[in-house]
Amino acid sequence: MRALVTGAAGFIGSRLSARLLDDGHEVRGVDAFTPYYDPDAKRSNLESLVGNEGFLFDEIDLRTAHLEPLVEADVVFHLAAQPGVRSSWGDSFADYLGHNVLATQRLLEACRAAGTPRVVLASSSSIYGEAERHPTPEDLTPRPVSPYGVTKVAAEQLLTAYGANFGLSGVALRYFTVYGPSQRPDMAFHRFIRAAFAGERIEVYGDGEQTRDVTYVDDAVQATVAAADLPDAPGPINVGGGSQVAVNEVLELVGRLTGRELDIERMDAVPGDVRHTSADLTRAAGYRPEVGIEEGLREEIDWLRRRLGA
Ligand code: UGA
Repeated sequence: MRALVTGAAGFIGSRLSARLLDDGHEVRGVDAFTPYYDPDAKRSNLESLVGNEGFLFDEIDLRTAHLEPLVEADVVFHLAAQPGVRSSWGDSFADYLGHNVLATQRLLEACRAAGTPRVVLASSSSIYGEAERHPTPEDLTPRPVSPYGVTKVAAEQLLTAYGANFGLSGVALRYFTVYGPSQRPDMAFHRFIRAAFAGERIEVYGDGEQTRDVTYVDDAVQATVAAADLPDAPGPINVGGGSQVAVNEVLELVGRLTGRELDIERMDAVPGDVRHTSADLTRAAGYRPEVGIEEGLREEIDWLRRRLGA
């Protein structure tokens, strides 16, 4: 299979690219190295990919680049995005619109013109907002409570519109708080572990009793690869980790597994954060998450310990 991976230098995109190459596929990766977090971290995600015979990489911005030649592939995995729930307020919304909505529309337009057989789109559990049901099935009406979530709904709806009008075959995957090696440095687990090793203060937003359905990155990758071959897209699909964990429980685990005493400061809750997430995995059918929180957290801690020389 020939695959295009957008956001190939990012957290999930780099792990997906590695997995596709391991499976013997050809991967073309693109990334814009946006400055939301240190682009050097993204370059280091690419290190194990470049030099691989099946891997081609281009630094491009999906908002402006000529995309048609790139999407001549069997499948396009669209993982490039402006992430971050809590930082999507205020002036930064323009970045969210550009990277999550305009870029997606331009990519889909190119896929339509090139006749790309399958597009897999990275969506998010944040589209549910404060979900009325737990575990949450995909057919609930999206009610995001962050501007970020709003842009992810828009991206999903674009995929649906291109499918309905032009027969473009797409699947949106709603990832639930993905973690593990290469996790973005703005996300909770990464921040907690880094602070534990550095002896720095950890800020907890709200009472810490909010829970997340957390998904180990290789489980998310497994679901993403499978989405390339789903016979007929049944609509968006939840990709959860199968277990819910409270922020306070994560802190307890980080303390125990790093052997460090944590310096915790309780802050106000942050707008855009939801109280609970949990994925109903019925629609995900063949997908079964395999890595539990303790095992997955250990992997992320080992990765960060090596990187920090801690
Ligand atoms: C994550 C990703 O950042 C989004 O890109 C993704 O779309 C989303 O998951 C999703 O599942 O849809 P989030 O659940 O907020 O968003 O993930 P974390 O940044 O790991 O935060 C988890 C919890 O920890 C939140 O309740 C947050 O308030 C809390 N937190 C985070 C803190 O208490 N302190 C911090 O320093 C960071």
